[in-house]
Amino acid sequence: MQLTLATTRAAEIETAAFAVLCFSDEAPGPGLAAGLVQELHTRGEFTGKALETAVVHRPAGMQAQRLLLIGCGEKAKFDASAMRRAGGVLVRALKPKGITSAAIRLKGNTLSPEMLSALAEGAILGDYEPDRYKTEKKNGSKPFESLTISIPAESAEMAEALRRGRTVAEAQNYTRTLVNEPGNLLTPLKMAAHARSLAEECGLQCEILDEPRMRQLGFGTLLGVSMGSAEPPVMIVLKYTPAAPPASSDHLALIGKGVTFDTGGISIKPADGMEKMKYDMAGAAAVLGAMRAIAELKPAIPVTAFAPCVENMPGHKAQRPGDIVTSYQGKTVEVLNTDAEGRLILADALTYAARQGCTHLVNAATLTGAIAVALGYVYAGVFSNNEDLQQRLLAASRAAGERMWPLPMDEDYKDLLKSAFADVANIGGRWGGSISAAKFLEEFVEGKPWVHLDIAGTAWLEEAKPFLAKGPTGLPVRTFVRLATDWPASL
Ligand code: BES
Ligand code: ZN
Ligand code: ZN
Repeated sequence: MQLTLATTRAAEIETAAFAVLCFSDEAPGPGLAAGLVQELHTRGEFTGKALETAVVHRPAGMQAQRLLLIGCGEKAKFDASAMRRAGGVLVRALKPKGITSAAIRLKGNTLSPEMLSALAEGAILGDYEPDRYKTEKKNGSKPFESLTISIPAESAEMAEALRRGRTVAEAQNYTRTLVNEPGNLLTPLKMAAHARSLAEECGLQCEILDEPRMRQLGFGTLLGVSMGSAEPPVMIVLKYTPAAPPASSDHLALIGKGVTFDTGGISIKPADGMEKMKYDMAGAAAVLGAMRAIAELKPAIPVTAFAPCVENMPGHKAQRPGDIVTSYQGKTVEVLNTDAEGRLILADALTYAARQGCTHLVNAATLTGAIAVALGYVYAGVFSNNEDLQQRLLAASRAAGERMWPLPMDEDYKDLLKSAFADVANIGGRWGGSISAAKFLEEFVEGKPWVHLDIAGTAWLEEAKPFLAKGPTGLPVRTFVRLATDWPASL
Protein backbone atom coordinates (compact mmCIF):
# COMPACT_ATOMS: atom_id res chain seq x y z
CA MET A 1 0.00 0.00 0.00
CA GLN A 2 1.26 3.41 -0.92
CA LEU A 3 1.04 5.84 1.99
CA THR A 4 1.65 9.47 1.14
CA LEU A 5 1.79 12.61 3.22
CA ALA A 6 0.30 15.75 1.67
CA THR A 7 -0.70 19.21 2.78
CA THR A 8 -3.65 19.57 0.41
CA ARG A 9 -6.78 21.07 1.93
CA ALA A 10 -9.57 18.57 2.45
CA ALA A 11 -11.92 20.11 -0.12
CA GLU A 12 -9.24 20.00 -2.79
CA ILE A 13 -8.17 16.36 -2.47
CA GLU A 14 -9.13 14.36 -5.52
CA THR A 15 -9.83 10.87 -4.26
CA ALA A 16 -12.26 7.99 -4.58
CA ALA A 17 -13.09 8.30 -0.90
CA PHE A 18 -12.34 10.98 1.65
CA ALA A 19 -12.48 9.57 5.17
CA VAL A 20 -13.85 11.68 8.01
CA LEU A 21 -13.36 10.67 11.62
CA CYS A 22 -16.62 11.40 13.46
CA PHE A 23 -17.11 11.47 17.20
CA SER A 24 -20.30 10.46 18.96
CA ASP A 25 -20.22 13.44 21.31
CA GLU A 26 -19.16 16.18 18.97
CA ALA A 27 -21.40 17.89 16.47
CA PRO A 28 -19.61 18.21 13.14
CA GLY A 29 -18.10 21.67 12.85
CA PRO A 30 -19.07 24.23 10.24
CA GLY A 31 -16.60 22.67 7.76
CA LEU A 32 -16.88 19.60 5.65
CA ALA A 33 -20.19 17.99 5.05
CA ALA A 34 -21.37 19.11 8.45
CA GLY A 35 -24.94 19.32 7.23
CA LEU A 36 -24.82 15.82 5.81
CA VAL A 37 -23.43 14.27 8.94
CA GLN A 38 -25.91 16.21 11.02
CA GLU A 39 -28.77 14.87 8.95
CA LEU A 40 -27.56 11.27 9.17
CA HIS A 41 -27.23 11.77 12.89
CA THR A 42 -30.74 13.17 13.32
CA ARG A 43 -32.17 10.30 11.32
CA GLY A 44 -30.24 7.84 13.47
CA GLU A 45 -28.40 6.41 10.47
CA PHE A 46 -24.96 7.32 11.73
CA THR A 47 -24.23 8.28 15.32
CA GLY A 48 -20.43 8.28 15.41
CA LYS A 49 -20.11 5.34 17.76
CA ALA A 50 -16.87 3.43 17.37
CA LEU A 51 -16.41 1.29 14.23
CA GLU A 52 -19.64 2.48 12.60
CA THR A 53 -19.40 3.63 8.96
CA ALA A 54 -21.52 5.45 6.36
CA VAL A 55 -20.82 6.46 2.78
CA VAL A 56 -22.09 9.65 1.19
CA HIS A 57 -21.69 10.27 -2.53
CA ARG A 58 -20.70 13.47 -4.29
CA PRO A 59 -20.27 15.69 -1.23
CA ALA A 60 -20.89 19.29 -2.15
CA GLY A 61 -17.90 21.59 -2.38
CA MET A 62 -15.38 18.73 -2.45
CA GLN A 63 -13.24 17.10 -5.10
CA ALA A 64 -13.65 13.67 -3.50
CA GLN A 65 -16.09 11.25 -5.16
CA ARG A 66 -17.46 10.17 -1.83
CA LEU A 67 -17.15 10.62 1.90
CA LEU A 68 -16.54 7.70 4.20
CA LEU A 69 -17.70 8.58 7.70
CA ILE A 70 -15.94 6.56 10.36
CA GLY A 71 -17.39 6.46 13.85
CA CYS A 72 -14.76 7.01 16.51
CA GLY A 73 -16.73 7.09 19.77
CA GLU A 74 -16.18 9.72 22.43
CA LYS A 75 -13.67 12.36 21.47
CA ALA A 76 -11.84 12.44 24.81
CA LYS A 77 -11.32 8.66 24.70
CA PHE A 78 -9.90 8.65 21.18
CA ASP A 79 -6.32 7.39 21.51
CA ALA A 80 -3.72 5.72 19.28
CA SER A 81 -5.40 2.32 19.67
CA ALA A 82 -8.70 3.80 18.51
CA MET A 83 -6.87 5.45 15.60
CA ARG A 84 -5.32 2.11 14.63
CA ARG A 85 -8.80 0.61 14.55
CA ALA A 86 -10.14 3.52 12.52
CA GLY A 87 -7.36 2.96 9.97
CA GLY A 88 -8.39 -0.68 9.68
CA VAL A 89 -12.07 0.23 9.37
CA LEU A 90 -11.23 2.71 6.62
CA VAL A 91 -9.59 0.03 4.48
CA ARG A 92 -12.01 -2.77 5.29
CA ALA A 93 -15.12 -0.66 4.68
CA LEU A 94 -13.95 0.37 1.22
CA LYS A 95 -12.38 -2.80 -0.18
CA PRO A 96 -15.61 -4.82 -0.51
CA LYS A 97 -16.96 -1.94 -2.61
CA GLY A 98 -13.98 -2.26 -4.95
CA ILE A 99 -12.50 1.04 -3.73
CA THR A 100 -8.77 0.81 -3.13
CA SER A 101 -7.64 4.39 -2.72
CA ALA A 102 -8.61 7.02 -0.20
CA ALA A 103 -7.53 10.16 1.60
CA ILE A 104 -7.88 11.48 5.11
CA ARG A 105 -6.97 14.71 6.87
CA LEU A 106 -5.51 14.74 10.37
CA LYS A 107 -6.22 17.70 12.62
CA GLY A 108 -6.84 18.55 16.26
CA ASN A 109 -6.64 15.53 18.54
CA THR A 110 -6.00 13.18 15.60
CA LEU A 111 -2.81 14.99 14.57
CA SER A 112 0.47 13.77 16.12
CA PRO A 113 3.32 11.48 15.12
CA GLU A 114 1.88 8.75 17.34
CA MET A 115 -1.56 9.08 15.72
CA LEU A 116 -0.03 9.02 12.26
CA SER A 117 1.92 5.82 13.00
CA ALA A 118 -1.23 4.23 14.39
CA LEU A 119 -3.28 5.20 11.34
CA ALA A 120 -0.67 3.74 8.97
CA GLU A 121 -0.48 0.57 11.07
CA GLY A 122 -4.24 0.19 11.17
CA ALA A 123 -4.60 0.62 7.42
CA ILE A 124 -1.87 -1.90 6.59
CA LEU A 125 -3.10 -4.41 9.17
CA GLY A 126 -6.67 -3.97 7.93
CA ASP A 127 -5.54 -4.71 4.40
CA TYR A 128 -4.27 -8.18 5.31
CA GLU A 129 -6.45 -11.05 4.14
CA PRO A 130 -5.66 -14.70 4.93
CA ASP A 131 -6.77 -15.86 1.48
CA ARG A 132 -3.50 -17.11 0.03
CA TYR A 133 -4.91 -20.55 -0.69
CA LYS A 134 -8.25 -19.45 -2.14
CA THR A 135 -8.04 -19.85 -5.90
CA GLU A 136 -11.15 -17.72 -6.25
CA LYS A 137 -10.65 -14.53 -4.32
CA LYS A 138 -13.73 -12.91 -2.88
CA ASN A 139 -14.77 -9.48 -4.06
CA GLY A 140 -12.67 -6.87 -2.35
CA SER A 141 -9.62 -8.99 -1.79
CA LYS A 142 -7.51 -6.76 -4.04
CA PRO A 143 -4.85 -5.04 -1.97
CA PHE A 144 -5.56 -1.45 -1.04
CA GLU A 145 -3.50 0.75 -3.36
CA SER A 146 -3.04 4.12 -1.78
CA LEU A 147 -3.88 6.23 1.20
CA THR A 148 -3.10 9.93 1.16
CA ILE A 149 -2.79 11.49 4.58
CA SER A 150 -3.14 15.23 4.60
CA ILE A 151 -1.61 17.19 7.48
CA PRO A 152 -1.28 20.96 8.03
CA ALA A 153 2.51 20.98 7.53
CA GLU A 154 5.01 18.32 6.57
CA SER A 155 7.93 17.63 8.89
CA ALA A 156 10.74 15.13 9.28
CA GLU A 157 9.10 13.92 12.48
CA MET A 158 5.83 13.10 10.71
CA ALA A 159 7.64 11.42 7.81
CA GLU A 160 9.53 9.28 10.32
CA ALA A 161 6.31 8.39 12.17
CA LEU A 162 4.80 7.21 8.90
CA ARG A 163 7.84 5.12 8.05
CA ARG A 164 7.85 3.57 11.49
CA GLY A 165 4.16 2.69 11.36
CA ARG A 166 4.55 1.15 7.94
CA THR A 167 7.62 -0.86 8.92
CA VAL A 168 6.05 -2.29 12.03
CA ALA A 169 2.72 -3.17 10.40
CA GLU A 170 4.36 -4.80 7.40
CA ALA A 171 6.47 -6.89 9.77
CA GLN A 172 3.32 -7.83 11.65
CA ASN A 173 1.61 -8.91 8.42
CA TYR A 174 4.69 -10.98 7.55
CA THR A 175 4.21 -12.74 10.89
CA ARG A 176 0.49 -13.23 10.21
CA THR A 177 1.26 -14.80 6.84
CA LEU A 178 3.61 -17.30 8.49
CA VAL A 179 1.17 -18.09 11.28
CA ASN A 180 -1.61 -18.81 8.82
CA GLU A 181 0.44 -21.34 6.86
CA PRO A 182 -0.87 -24.87 7.36
CA GLY A 183 1.25 -27.48 9.08
CA ASN A 184 1.85 -29.51 5.93
CA LEU A 185 3.38 -26.54 4.15
CA LEU A 186 5.23 -24.82 6.96
CA THR A 187 7.49 -27.39 8.63
CA PRO A 188 10.45 -26.55 10.88
CA LEU A 189 12.80 -26.75 7.88
CA LYS A 190 10.56 -24.31 5.99
CA MET A 191 10.67 -21.94 8.94
CA ALA A 192 14.46 -22.09 8.72
CA ALA A 193 14.31 -21.31 4.99
CA HIS A 194 12.09 -18.28 5.73
CA ALA A 195 14.54 -17.11 8.40
CA ARG A 196 17.44 -17.44 5.97
CA SER A 197 15.80 -15.34 3.27
CA LEU A 198 14.67 -12.81 5.84
CA ALA A 199 18.26 -12.49 7.08
CA GLU A 200 19.53 -12.04 3.57
CA GLU A 201 16.94 -9.40 2.70
CA CYS A 202 17.37 -7.42 5.91
CA GLY A 203 21.08 -7.80 6.58
CA LEU A 204 20.81 -9.96 9.70
CA GLN A 205 23.13 -12.78 10.71
CA CYS A 206 21.46 -16.17 10.57
CA GLU A 207 22.47 -19.50 12.03
CA ILE A 208 20.40 -22.67 11.92
CA LEU A 209 21.18 -25.35 14.49
CA ASP A 210 20.20 -28.69 12.95
CA GLU A 211 19.35 -31.91 14.73
CA PRO A 212 22.91 -33.34 14.94
CA ARG A 213 24.17 -30.01 16.32
CA MET A 214 21.41 -29.88 18.92
CA ARG A 215 22.15 -33.47 19.90
CA GLN A 216 25.79 -32.52 20.32
CA LEU A 217 24.82 -29.56 22.52
CA GLY A 218 22.49 -31.75 24.56
CA PHE A 219 19.11 -30.17 23.80
CA GLY A 220 17.35 -33.14 25.38
CA THR A 221 14.01 -31.53 26.20
CA LEU A 222 13.65 -30.07 22.69
CA LEU A 223 14.70 -33.25 20.88
CA GLY A 224 12.34 -35.36 22.98
CA VAL A 225 9.41 -33.42 21.50
CA SER A 226 10.50 -33.82 17.89
CA MET A 227 11.06 -37.59 18.17
CA GLY A 228 7.51 -38.43 17.17
CA SER A 229 7.75 -36.50 13.91
CA ALA A 230 9.34 -37.31 10.57
CA GLU A 231 10.17 -33.61 10.24
CA PRO A 232 13.57 -32.70 11.66
CA PRO A 233 13.67 -29.91 14.27
CA VAL A 234 15.70 -26.70 13.98
CA MET A 235 16.76 -23.86 16.19
CA ILE A 236 16.78 -20.59 14.27
CA VAL A 237 19.15 -17.89 15.50
CA LEU A 238 18.90 -14.42 13.94
CA LYS A 239 21.21 -11.68 15.08
CA TYR A 240 20.99 -7.90 14.78
CA THR A 241 24.12 -5.93 15.67
CA PRO A 242 23.92 -2.12 15.89
CA ALA A 243 26.38 -0.20 13.74
CA ALA A 244 27.63 1.94 16.63
CA PRO A 245 29.15 0.12 19.60
CA PRO A 246 26.44 0.00 22.28
CA ALA A 247 26.82 2.12 25.42
CA SER A 248 25.95 -0.75 27.75
CA SER A 249 26.51 -4.50 27.72
CA ASP A 250 22.78 -5.17 27.42
CA HIS A 251 21.83 -7.74 24.84
CA LEU A 252 18.18 -8.53 24.28
CA ALA A 253 17.02 -12.04 23.36
CA LEU A 254 13.63 -12.58 21.72
CA ILE A 255 12.59 -16.22 21.92
CA GLY A 256 9.50 -17.72 20.26
CA LYS A 257 7.79 -21.11 20.48
CA GLY A 258 7.77 -22.66 17.03
CA VAL A 259 5.63 -25.80 17.12
CA THR A 260 4.63 -25.93 13.46
CA PHE A 261 1.83 -28.32 14.38
CA ASP A 262 0.78 -29.54 17.81
CA THR A 263 -1.19 -32.80 17.78
CA GLY A 264 -0.41 -33.20 21.46
CA GLY A 265 1.84 -36.20 20.70
CA ILE A 266 1.00 -39.43 22.50
CA SER A 267 -1.14 -37.38 24.92
CA ILE A 268 -3.12 -36.60 21.78
CA LYS A 269 -5.54 -33.69 21.52
CA PRO A 270 -9.24 -34.14 20.68
CA ALA A 271 -9.99 -33.89 16.93
CA ASP A 272 -12.41 -31.01 17.42
CA GLY A 273 -10.47 -27.80 16.82
CA MET A 274 -7.13 -29.51 16.34
CA GLU A 275 -6.75 -27.79 12.96
CA LYS A 276 -6.06 -24.58 14.80
CA MET A 277 -2.84 -25.99 16.18
CA LYS A 278 -1.06 -24.78 13.06
CA TYR A 279 -0.79 -21.48 14.93
CA ASP A 280 1.32 -23.04 17.65
CA MET A 281 4.34 -21.40 16.00
CA ALA A 282 2.96 -17.87 16.46
CA GLY A 283 5.71 -17.03 18.96
CA ALA A 284 8.46 -18.03 16.52
CA ALA A 285 6.75 -16.16 13.68
CA ALA A 286 6.50 -13.08 15.92
CA VAL A 287 10.22 -13.04 16.68
CA LEU A 288 10.98 -13.36 12.97
CA GLY A 289 8.62 -10.48 12.16
CA ALA A 290 10.04 -8.38 14.99
CA MET A 291 13.58 -8.94 13.68
CA ARG A 292 12.47 -7.76 10.26
CA ALA A 293 11.32 -4.44 11.70
CA ILE A 294 14.30 -4.21 14.05
CA ALA A 295 16.68 -4.59 11.11
CA GLU A 296 15.02 -1.58 9.52
CA LEU A 297 14.51 0.61 12.59
CA LYS A 298 17.99 -0.09 13.96
CA PRO A 299 17.74 0.17 17.75
CA ALA A 300 20.87 0.97 19.76
CA ILE A 301 21.20 -2.44 21.46
CA PRO A 302 22.02 -5.85 19.98
CA VAL A 303 19.04 -8.17 19.63
CA THR A 304 19.18 -11.89 18.95
CA ALA A 305 16.15 -14.00 18.11
CA PHE A 306 15.89 -17.68 18.94
CA ALA A 307 13.13 -19.79 17.41
CA PRO A 308 13.07 -23.44 18.40
CA CYS A 309 10.94 -25.17 15.75
CA VAL A 310 9.52 -28.69 15.97
CA GLU A 311 6.45 -30.65 15.02
CA ASN A 312 4.67 -32.45 17.88
CA MET A 313 3.46 -35.77 16.47
CA PRO A 314 2.62 -39.21 17.88
CA GLY A 315 4.91 -41.15 15.50
CA HIS A 316 6.37 -44.52 16.34
CA LYS A 317 9.42 -42.98 17.94
CA ALA A 318 7.42 -40.41 19.90
CA GLN A 319 8.24 -39.75 23.51
CA ARG A 320 5.90 -41.34 26.05
CA PRO A 321 4.30 -40.00 29.19
CA GLY A 322 6.71 -40.90 31.97
CA ASP A 323 9.81 -40.44 29.81
CA ILE A 324 12.64 -38.59 31.50
CA VAL A 325 14.74 -36.22 29.41
CA THR A 326 17.78 -34.13 30.28
CA SER A 327 17.73 -30.46 29.33
CA TYR A 328 20.64 -28.51 27.87
CA GLN A 329 20.96 -26.91 31.29
CA GLY A 330 21.35 -30.31 32.93
CA LYS A 331 18.07 -30.54 34.86
CA THR A 332 16.06 -33.70 34.28
CA VAL A 333 12.39 -33.43 33.32
CA GLU A 334 9.67 -36.04 33.70
CA VAL A 335 7.33 -35.70 30.73
CA LEU A 336 3.96 -36.40 32.32
CA ASN A 337 2.05 -35.02 29.35
CA THR A 338 3.49 -34.86 25.83
CA ASP A 339 1.04 -32.08 24.98
CA ALA A 340 2.90 -29.71 27.29
CA GLU A 341 5.65 -29.57 24.64
CA GLY A 342 6.07 -25.80 24.26
CA ARG A 343 7.79 -25.46 27.61
CA LEU A 344 10.10 -28.36 26.74
CA ILE A 345 11.42 -26.75 23.57
CA LEU A 346 11.58 -23.32 25.22
CA ALA A 347 13.55 -24.68 28.16
CA ASP A 348 16.53 -25.45 25.94
CA ALA A 349 16.09 -22.27 23.90
CA LEU A 350 16.04 -20.07 27.03
CA THR A 351 19.18 -21.66 28.46
CA TYR A 352 20.88 -21.42 25.09
CA ALA A 353 20.01 -17.71 24.80
CA ALA A 354 21.30 -17.07 28.32
CA ARG A 355 24.55 -18.91 27.61
CA GLN A 356 25.04 -17.14 24.30
CA GLY A 357 25.56 -13.92 26.22
CA CYS A 358 22.08 -12.41 26.10
CA THR A 359 21.47 -10.38 29.25
CA HIS A 360 17.66 -9.99 29.04
CA LEU A 361 15.34 -12.73 27.82
CA VAL A 362 11.82 -12.17 26.49
CA ASN A 363 9.81 -15.04 25.08
CA ALA A 364 6.42 -15.39 23.41
CA ALA A 365 4.56 -18.67 23.25
CA THR A 366 1.10 -20.07 22.58
CA LEU A 367 1.79 -21.98 25.75
CA THR A 368 -1.46 -22.81 27.53
CA GLY A 369 -5.17 -22.99 26.87
CA ALA A 370 -5.49 -21.88 30.48
CA ILE A 371 -4.39 -18.33 29.62
CA ALA A 372 -7.63 -17.89 27.64
CA VAL A 373 -9.56 -19.11 30.70
CA ALA A 374 -7.83 -16.44 32.78
CA LEU A 375 -7.76 -13.48 30.39
CA GLY A 376 -10.02 -14.43 27.48
CA TYR A 377 -8.98 -13.44 24.00
CA VAL A 378 -8.27 -9.86 25.02
CA TYR A 379 -5.07 -9.72 27.05
CA ALA A 380 -1.87 -11.73 26.69
CA GLY A 381 -0.46 -13.01 29.99
CA VAL A 382 2.82 -11.59 31.29
CA PHE A 383 5.07 -13.54 33.66
CA SER A 384 8.45 -12.43 34.90
CA ASN A 385 11.23 -12.94 37.42
CA ASN A 386 12.27 -9.29 37.23
CA GLU A 387 10.08 -6.31 38.09
CA ASP A 388 12.16 -3.82 36.13
CA LEU A 389 12.08 -5.76 32.86
CA GLN A 390 8.39 -6.53 33.36
CA GLN A 391 7.62 -2.82 33.74
CA ARG A 392 9.59 -2.04 30.61
CA LEU A 393 7.75 -4.74 28.69
CA LEU A 394 4.39 -3.46 29.91
CA ALA A 395 5.32 0.10 28.94
CA ALA A 396 6.26 -1.14 25.46
CA SER A 397 2.98 -3.03 25.18
CA ARG A 398 1.00 0.07 26.14
CA ALA A 399 2.89 2.24 23.68
CA ALA A 400 2.40 -0.35 20.95
CA GLY A 401 -1.30 -0.86 21.69
CA GLU A 402 -1.09 -4.59 22.43
CA ARG A 403 -2.90 -5.50 25.62
CA MET A 404 -0.94 -7.50 28.20
CA TRP A 405 -1.61 -8.27 31.84
CA PRO A 406 0.83 -9.45 34.56
CA LEU A 407 0.11 -12.60 36.55
CA PRO A 408 1.69 -13.76 39.82
CA MET A 409 4.81 -15.89 40.05
CA ASP A 410 4.95 -16.83 43.75
CA GLU A 411 7.10 -19.78 44.72
CA ASP A 412 4.00 -21.71 45.84
CA TYR A 413 3.20 -22.35 42.17
CA LYS A 414 6.53 -24.07 41.66
CA ASP A 415 5.50 -26.79 44.10
CA LEU A 416 2.96 -27.94 41.51
CA LEU A 417 5.80 -29.10 39.26
CA LYS A 418 7.22 -31.67 41.70
CA SER A 419 8.22 -34.96 40.12
CA ALA A 420 8.73 -38.22 42.00
CA PHE A 421 11.50 -39.37 39.68
CA ALA A 422 13.14 -36.34 38.02
CA ASP A 423 14.12 -32.79 38.99
CA VAL A 424 10.90 -31.33 37.67
CA ALA A 425 7.67 -32.45 35.95
CA ASN A 426 6.45 -30.78 32.77
CA ILE A 427 2.90 -30.19 34.00
CA GLY A 428 1.51 -28.65 37.14
CA GLY A 429 -2.12 -29.68 37.09
CA ARG A 430 -5.32 -27.98 36.00
CA TRP A 431 -5.53 -24.96 38.29
CA GLY A 432 -3.29 -22.03 37.56
CA GLY A 433 -2.04 -23.91 34.52
CA SER A 434 -0.55 -20.84 32.83
CA ILE A 435 1.38 -19.93 35.96
CA SER A 436 2.85 -23.38 36.55
CA ALA A 437 3.89 -23.39 32.87
CA ALA A 438 5.65 -20.06 33.44
CA LYS A 439 7.28 -21.39 36.62
CA PHE A 440 8.58 -24.30 34.56
CA LEU A 441 10.20 -21.92 32.05
CA GLU A 442 11.74 -19.90 34.88
CA GLU A 443 13.78 -22.97 35.87
CA PHE A 444 15.79 -22.63 32.67
CA VAL A 445 16.62 -18.91 32.41
CA GLU A 446 19.77 -19.17 34.49
CA GLY A 447 18.77 -16.29 36.73
CA LYS A 448 18.68 -13.77 33.87
CA PRO A 449 15.99 -11.06 33.85
CA TRP A 450 13.22 -12.68 31.85
CA VAL A 451 9.65 -12.09 30.69
CA HIS A 452 7.32 -14.74 29.28
CA LEU A 453 4.26 -13.79 27.22
CA ASP A 454 1.54 -16.41 26.93
CA ILE A 455 -0.19 -15.53 23.65
CA ALA A 456 -2.37 -18.65 23.25
CA GLY A 457 -5.52 -16.52 23.62
CA THR A 458 -4.41 -13.51 21.60
CA ALA A 459 -2.37 -14.73 18.62
CA TRP A 460 -5.52 -15.87 16.81
CA LEU A 461 -8.73 -13.92 16.20
CA GLU A 462 -11.77 -16.22 16.18
CA GLU A 463 -14.14 -13.77 14.53
CA ALA A 464 -13.28 -11.02 12.06
CA LYS A 465 -13.52 -7.46 13.41
CA PRO A 466 -14.49 -4.45 11.30
CA PHE A 467 -10.80 -3.50 11.33
CA LEU A 468 -9.08 -6.90 11.21
CA ALA A 469 -9.51 -10.20 9.37
CA LYS A 470 -10.21 -13.45 11.19
CA GLY A 471 -7.12 -15.53 11.92
CA PRO A 472 -3.61 -14.62 12.97
CA THR A 473 -3.20 -11.28 14.75
CA GLY A 474 0.58 -10.93 14.62
CA LEU A 475 0.80 -10.21 18.36
CA PRO A 476 3.29 -9.39 19.96
CA VAL A 477 5.40 -8.04 17.07
CA ARG A 478 4.71 -4.39 17.89
CA THR A 479 5.58 -4.82 21.58
CA PHE A 480 8.84 -6.62 20.75
CA VAL A 481 9.89 -3.90 18.32
CA ARG A 482 8.95 -1.17 20.77
CA LEU A 483 10.86 -2.84 23.59
CA ALA A 484 14.00 -2.94 21.44
CA THR A 485 13.72 0.58 20.01
CA ASP A 486 12.80 2.17 23.38
CA TRP A 487 15.57 0.35 25.25
CA PRO A 488 17.35 2.91 27.47
CA ALA A 489 20.86 3.71 26.26
CA SER A 490 22.28 2.88 29.68
CA LEU A 491 20.69 1.78 32.90
N1 BES B 1 -0.29 -25.38 22.12
C1 BES B 1 -0.95 -25.73 23.32
C2 BES B 1 -1.62 -24.53 24.00
C3 BES B 1 -2.75 -23.90 23.25
C4 BES B 1 -4.05 -24.23 23.54
C5 BES B 1 -2.51 -22.93 22.31
C6 BES B 1 -5.09 -23.64 22.86
C7 BES B 1 -3.54 -22.33 21.65
C8 BES B 1 -4.83 -22.68 21.93
C9 BES B 1 0.04 -26.33 24.32
O1 BES B 1 1.09 -27.02 23.76
C10 BES B 1 -0.76 -27.29 25.14
O2 BES B 1 -1.26 -28.23 24.58
N2 BES B 1 -0.88 -27.03 26.43
C11 BES B 1 -1.65 -27.83 27.30
C12 BES B 1 -0.89 -27.97 28.60
C13 BES B 1 -1.43 -29.03 29.50
C14 BES B 1 -1.18 -30.41 28.91
C15 BES B 1 -0.73 -28.91 30.82
C16 BES B 1 -3.00 -27.16 27.52
O3 BES B 1 -3.06 -25.94 27.54
O4 BES B 1 -3.98 -27.87 27.61
ZN1 ZN C 1 0.62 -29.04 23.30
ZN1 ZN D 1 1.68 -26.38 21.85
